[in-house]
Amino acid sequence: MINEIEAARNAALAEIAALGDVEAVSTATARLTGKKSALSGLKKGLGALESIDDKKAAGQAINAALAAVNTALDDRRAELNAAALADRVEHERLDLTEFVAAPTRGHAHLVTQAWERLEDLFIGLGFQIAEGPEVETDWHNFEALNMGEGHPARGEFDTLFLDYAPPGGQPGSTLLRTHTSPVQIRTMLAGKPPIYIVAPGRVFRRDTADATHMPVFHQIEGLVVDRHITMADLAGTIEAFTKAFFGSEFTSRLRPYHFPFTEPSAEFDIQRPDGSWIELGGCGMVHPDVLRAGGIDPEEWSGFAFGFGIDRMAKERHGVDDLREMFSNDIRFLEQF
Ligand code: PHE
Repeated sequence: MINEIEAARNAALAEIAALGDVEAVSTATARLTGKKSALSGLKKGLGALESIDDKKAAGQAINAALAAVNTALDDRRAELNAAALADRVEHERLDLTEFVAAPTRGHAHLVTQAWERLEDLFIGLGFQIAEGPEVETDWHNFEALNMGEGHPARGEFDTLFLDYAPPGGQPGSTLLRTHTSPVQIRTMLAGKPPIYIVAPGRVFRRDTADATHMPVFHQIEGLVVDRHITMADLAGTIEAFTKAFFGSEFTSRLRPYHFPFTEPSAEFDIQRPDGSWIELGGCGMVHPDVLRAGGIDPEEWSGFAFGFGIDRMAKERHGVDDLREMFSNDIRFLEQF
């Protein structure tokens, strides 16, 4: 009897181990532990045993076998449930990992870099930064700079006038500033000398874009008004700036020229180490009429001013052939600087 119980128990356990899913476990439960199971059948045969001890021993063996079978069924069910869950989780898994390439970092535009470098450099020389509006009055842009109506020099600036009539003004008396020089006037009117400012900014002219011209470009204006300022101070400032910006192998020179708002006036050039010259900007001693327009007494104060193109400086510094390249925003070009 004990052997039969053992055999029935082993057969049941083997069957349980082979069950493939939870449903199979349910049907097997009735079959292996129910009334018609082999072990239950053996129970019925207990009555036929003669010895009480044998009956007792066999009864205990059957109960133990049934308990083992039930435990095995529970374990198998748990095992299959866990496997099914793992399977589902694996199946429904979302791949949330993402390949992140090393981020490409942007940087300031070539012209912005030059602009900021110029500011730093002039701040280092003791200047302050000033600014003025891009939409200017005819008065600030021309009149106060000694270019009254009908002055031939006005024609040198291909001016973009606006239809807008300012309060109390005429249509056409506002314009897109053609240079940063009106900031000279605004600065003088806003404060008293001594004045040491630079004013970088955007300027506009009705020009066709080519390798050396753009209808919108950038200038930096300089204005110094103090006592006993001379042309030597101007030349020294330009030279100091040239070496600081381009390098000590570069030098500058002033070439006589004419601007209505400076007297005397000059253009200034810088010389490359190979001996060639680049024309960079205009400068001169502030004209007494301009000082007066700015509310400053030319008997007491004198000053110099200069103005040059920032884009052209950036172009020279980096050996860019064509100004237009700097504004076409081709990333392959911009990335180089
Ligand atoms: N404003 C002049 C220009 O745009 C440059 C300049 C500035 C000349 C200051 C003299 C003094 O051409």
